[in-house]
Amino acid sequence: MVTRLMKNNLDIIAAGSYMARDQTTAEIAMAVGDRFQGKGIGTLLLERLALVAVMNGFTHFSAETMAENSAMLQVFRDSGFKFQSNTKDGYVDVDLSVIPSEASVTRAEMRDPVSTTASLRTFFHPQSVAVVGASRNPANIGGRILHALITDRFRGVIYPINPQATSVASLPAYPSLTALPEAPDMAIIAVPPNTVLDVIDDCAARGVKAVVVITAGFAETGAEGRELQQKLVERVRGYGMRMVGPNCLGLINADPAVSLNASFSPFFPISGHIAFSSQSGALGLAILSLSRERELGLSHFISVGNKADVSGNDLLQYWEEDKQVNAILLYLESFGNPRRFARIAKRVGSRKPIVAVKAGRTGAGRRAAGSHTAALAASDVAVDALFHQTGVIRAETLDEMFDLATALAHQPLPNGRRTAILTNAGGLGILCADSCEAGGLSVTELSEHTKNLLRQFLPVAASVMNPVDMIASAGADHFHRSAEILLRADEVDALIVLYIDVALADTKSIAEGIASGVVAARKRGATTKPVYACVMASAMAARPLSMNGERVPNFAFPETPARVLSKLVTYSNWRNKPDGVVPEFDGIQPNSTRSLCQTVLHQRGPGWLSTEEMRDVLSAFALPLPRGGFCRTADETAKKASEIGFPVAVKLASTSIVHKTEMGGVQLNLENEAAVRRAFAAIQERLANENKLDAMDGVLVQPMLSGGVELMIGVTQDPSFGPLIGFGLGGIHVEILRDVCFRVTPITDQDAKEMVRGIRGYRLLEGYRGHPAADITAIEELLLRVARLVEEIPEISELDLNPVMAFSPGHGCLIVDGRIRVAS
Ligand code: COA
Repeated sequence: MVTRLMKNNLDIIAAGSYMARDQTTAEIAMAVGDRFQGKGIGTLLLERLALVAVMNGFTHFSAETMAENSAMLQVFRDSGFKFQSNTKDGYVDVDLSVIPSEASVTRAEMRDPVSTTASLRTFFHPQSVAVVGASRNPANIGGRILHALITDRFRGVIYPINPQATSVASLPAYPSLTALPEAPDMAIIAVPPNTVLDVIDDCAARGVKAVVVITAGFAETGAEGRELQQKLVERVRGYGMRMVGPNCLGLINADPAVSLNASFSPFFPISGHIAFSSQSGALGLAILSLSRERELGLSHFISVGNKADVSGNDLLQYWEEDKQVNAILLYLESFGNPRRFARIAKRVGSRKPIVAVKAGRTGAGRRAAGSHTAALAASDVAVDALFHQTGVIRAETLDEMFDLATALAHQPLPNGRRTAILTNAGGLGILCADSCEAGGLSVTELSEHTKNLLRQFLPVAASVMNPVDMIASAGADHFHRSAEILLRADEVDALIVLYIDVALADTKSIAEGIASGVVAARKRGATTKPVYACVMASAMAARPLSMNGERVPNFAFPETPARVLSKLVTYSNWRNKPDGVVPEFDGIQPNSTRSLCQTVLHQRGPGWLSTEEMRDVLSAFALPLPRGGFCRTADETAKKASEIGFPVAVKLASTSIVHKTEMGGVQLNLENEAAVRRAFAAIQERLANENKLDAMDGVLVQPMLSGGVELMIGVTQDPSFGPLIGFGLGGIHVEILRDVCFRVTPITDQDAKEMVRGIRGYRLLEGYRGHPAADITAIEELLLRVARLVEEIPEISELDLNPVMAFSPGHGCLIVDGRIRVAS
């Protein structure tokens, strides 16, 4: 039911429901009030109903609609759900598959930014702002906000609200929002927590649509605060408002046409094109101050506080469309909804770079579970995987975030990794070149033509190899001419200029020489290559070298420009590579598999699937298993072994004994029936000795496989990111070298390709010194199917396929052993 809440009167403007027809199909009915049609409410209602239906196990909606009700039919068609219809006697029978598909999720997300952008615009472009709690004391937070608005010359109207005063800071004050002569576009609320809800009521009564709640004392303080925040959110949403905060510093739009400092920050940034969202207010203050010091222009700043309504994801969508914004910085402490973040960041990141600092890198989230994958994966691994998949540039420190932001603000993105280094000191050049190589850049060989151009004016002692070392005597003119030549060279994609003050030249003139060399190269067409500098002289610390609109970022140490460039090349490559697809697989059976896992959970509670159950699950997703199977008795085992042919392997099947080998539960190379029977008896005897015979369900008998490469594929559930899939070579590669590549599901065909190629041992899969090559296409498909399995069956909490044998190209792979755990 969609309602409009006006103080205490509820207006029902749309209603929808579904009723089960059978176990998988529900009949849906919806109606939207005449005045509210055409506003997307029907679509929203359908989406929400579908979500609830899927969570309750339905897969289809059916509806009967009059043929002339084209609006309703259009809602069904536009939903993105798979749609089938049948017209008869003036009625249309509609069938919708409500399982979220790529199309439906994409459609929903395409609708989302439109409404999100519209609702967030008011925050950054208000015509009028009320400060509720505009204290007469300029040192109080409300007083500071009012002063910030005035001092930083907000272009709109400011209304101080204070019941104790008739004027504050020379502006007429109003006792409450309801007393205002007009509805302000935005209200900034800085009153004690117990009065915030009343102020929200006043906002609604006066028609305010955007509120920034500065007040602290909500979810961050514990259970009571959480309850208060819940009430606040309900009220805000009920009134159809949007809210930033609570517990935040406020927001800023530095565009001179708006000049809005709706925060208690005394620092107003230089106007620029970088938007910055911070989950920490205090840190936000520090960053605003630093951005001025480092001459980094910002377009927007927002402290999102408790993110009770407006989230980081909303802001990404807003900035995606904002022409003032060229790049986005995020300081994150948590992801509200990582899967939504992944989809939005990927889309936004393909247009505008996103740089994120994620706090909480170490320790937290590491899981103690016994399996390889769980032990290897920590939340931070998931963050890394997610950022990698979505093109988010991860900054390790705040300092690095600034470095990356400065590079993005002032220089074009690199188009390649061939890097030229220009220096007046060999040591600097070596440090920088090492960092370049470590970061995957290539300190490229210069062409004879370039070298000859340099030789014409550089001293004989100079080296015209790359790094170009002009030696200590280099002056401003050497820097100018060399920078121009290198930037214009066809074999160079990016230039790093290094200078250390050796008291032989004036640093300022060197800086000018570098900048003017770059300007000259730009004039002659080298407009798309980035240049970074490291001028190691105290006078120049961290400020860009500027000339005629050209700004060359200047970093403190020679390794920094290399690291920045390497991260931006990676981003640029990500942006240029084809979009992957999450492939559809025919003939998989998610429904029956899910009910199998649910039944197990219901009957036995969380735990490992039996060998038989695991084989059923894997087979239902057409995952390749060797012949053979589960047997309960020695006779059965011997019979099955002769059917599949000798030699065979016989392995203990048990839901409670995880480490089979240690229990003597793996018997290999059995050449005949007698050997199989002996092996069966040996397993039984060993278990009996350990008093664990009850734990034996039977055995798994398989042909002995040889000649392949051993792999492992594992999945663990990250509490906030969902399934995390890992891939590596089996044996010591996983256990000792930890050579595993992780991704967050769902994964695309591109992700699968990268996972296989992303491990250090990839060369072994290509065939190396007598090692046979492996069927890489089959491995990629296996990864995609496993990812699909865990996406479809959320009950799978852990999965380990180890070993998987990959055979030579064209011969596929087989899952030799594995285990699957289910949990609710
Ligand atoms: N409407 C309008 N004005 C009101 C009001 C209301 N309902 N209730 C109080 N006021 C006025 C008061 O009269 C006072 O003005 P005055 O100083 O001229 O008398 C002013 O608002 C402030 O009220 P006060 O009771 O003094 O509150 P405070 O300034 O001590 O605290 C907050 C208010 C919001 C600053 C405080 O509750 C808070 O949350 N502080 C932490 C904020 C924070 O850290 N946020 C996160 C940053 S990252």
